[in-house]
Amino acid sequence: PDKEVQAIYDLALEVARKAGVLIREAFVKEKSVETKDSEADLVTETDQAVEKFVHDMIKAKYPDHKFIGEETFAETGQKCELTDEPTWIIDPIDGTTNFVHRVQEVSFSLGVTINKKPVIGIVYAPVKEEMFTARLGQGAFCNDQRLKANSITELKKSLGIVEGGSARDPAVVQDKITNIHSILKNCHGFRAYGSCAINLCHVAAGRGDFYVEYGVHIWDFIAGVLIAQEAGASVCDPEGGELSLLRRRLLCACTPELIVQIPPILTHLDMGSD
Ligand code: IPD
Repeated sequence: PDKEVQAIYDLALEVARKAGVLIREAFVKEKSVETKDSEADLVTETDQAVEKFVHDMIKAKYPDHKFIGEETFAETGQKCELTDEPTWIIDPIDGTTNFVHRVQEVSFSLGVTINKKPVIGIVYAPVKEEMFTARLGQGAFCNDQRLKANSITELKKSLGIVEGGSARDPAVVQDKITNIHSILKNCHGFRAYGSCAINLCHVAAGRGDFYVEYGVHIWDFIAGVLIAQEAGASVCDPEGGELSLLRRRLLCACTPELIVQIPPILTHLDMGSD
């Protein structure tokens, strides 16, 4: 089985590097932008082209493996079905709003699950040239340097990461503002980098102590979750229970002591499921 995971990992790295070249080339060019679920939920021709390119590359080598891709699901409106089969879960550009506005925090995110558990996570930020990688039980790395999440245990000494997300339903927006207010009251501050995958890598790299978001999808976080866990961080549902991969929300923190202090300060949103 290890040999099989190694072969999948080698292809995953090659796919990520090639996807990164496409994203980097398109980053400086004019983009054609369309909207999906809301006026703030964006997609460009590069998201679609990268997804098709990597889908074809993966299927050429592994025709029987399952594939879950953000844009494929947006086009067909299908529900995600996560099975025990080896499954490649791709977000061709995580941080599409950054990509459209030429903010450098854009990433290609690729996770592979076997038996519904992530075994490989790759987040490549091609503009900043940061390649984050993790394999189950083997640690997390950025450009081959081992990552270790921070050791902060007190909420009042922590730096949080949160996002506005793309939902514009007034009740959702209000609850998110309430949560930012609460984080400002209880912590050193908050940051919002505009890519769920990169946010998780920031916690893994010790550039922030926790990250919480309601409204994310499995393709946004699956790779970053493994990278954060392999760097020693903890991940759970924002209410404190076990993370559900299809429930569209997550909390990640650098230590087990910190993570339990966060659910009580938040207003919890139910964003449906993938
Ligand atoms: C988005 C980013 C963003 C988060 C949104 C996601 P996309 O993914 O991860 O940080 O706030 O909830 O939808 O649309 O750029 O792939």
